[in-house]
Amino acid sequence: MTKTVLVTFASQTEATAEVAEFIGKTLEEQGMIVTVKAVDQVTDLNRYQALVIGSGVKMDKTYREAQEFLKRSRQSLLQKQFAAFITCGSLSKDTAENRDKAQKYANQLAEAASARPLSQGLFAGRMDMSRAKGLIGLLMRKSASKAEDWRDWDSIRGWAVDLAQQLN
Ligand SMILES: Cc1cc2nc3c(=O)[nH]c(=O)nc-3n(C[C@H](O)[C@H](O)[C@H](O)COP(=O)(O)O)c2cc1C
Repeated sequence: MTKTVLVTFASQTEATAEVAEFIGKTLEEQGMIVTVKAVDQVTDLNRYQALVIGSGVKMDKTYREAQEFLKRSRQSLLQKQFAAFITCGSLSKDTAENRDKAQKYANQLAEAASARPLSQGLFAGRMDMSRAKGLIGLLMRKSASKAEDWRDWDSIRGWAVDLAQQLN
């Protein structure tokens, strides 16, 4: 039977949002029925058989809206397949120490969900301070700082294809 999957995300500067869209497209190519939505737009989890959630990271924490969404969804997650991914700056350099950090970020989502993920995607993100909200963004938009995009689309695609097999 065709799987219905919700790919949801918490994103402050759109880096994770774009990764979520890309994962959604890849899962669709693998034959799933996919909806991609920000966590604050999700109203009903019942119609999905699987949930994939992504978050960016700020000051060593995945975003609060992702954590709160997972905490309030714990009960419905008991009935679903679950996977999580993060995008972060630390993985701009792929060292053992940074992978360890990224794993801890992803674990924050699993802990909030109180569920064991089928798979955890640890991805380098994009640092674009000029898109940041609040004072940091305002200051950075005035400066000439350039965005750095470390997202490795092949590796993200590989993760999503692998996940599709596990969901099946
Ligand atoms: C203010 C700020 C703080 C950040 N703190 C961290 C951090 O503690 N660890 C990390 O690995 N990446 C950190 N990052 C990098 C972001 O997690 C990364 O750029 C991510 O892809 C952003 O995702 P988003 O655009 O979906 O919010 C930080 C970025 C900003 C702008």
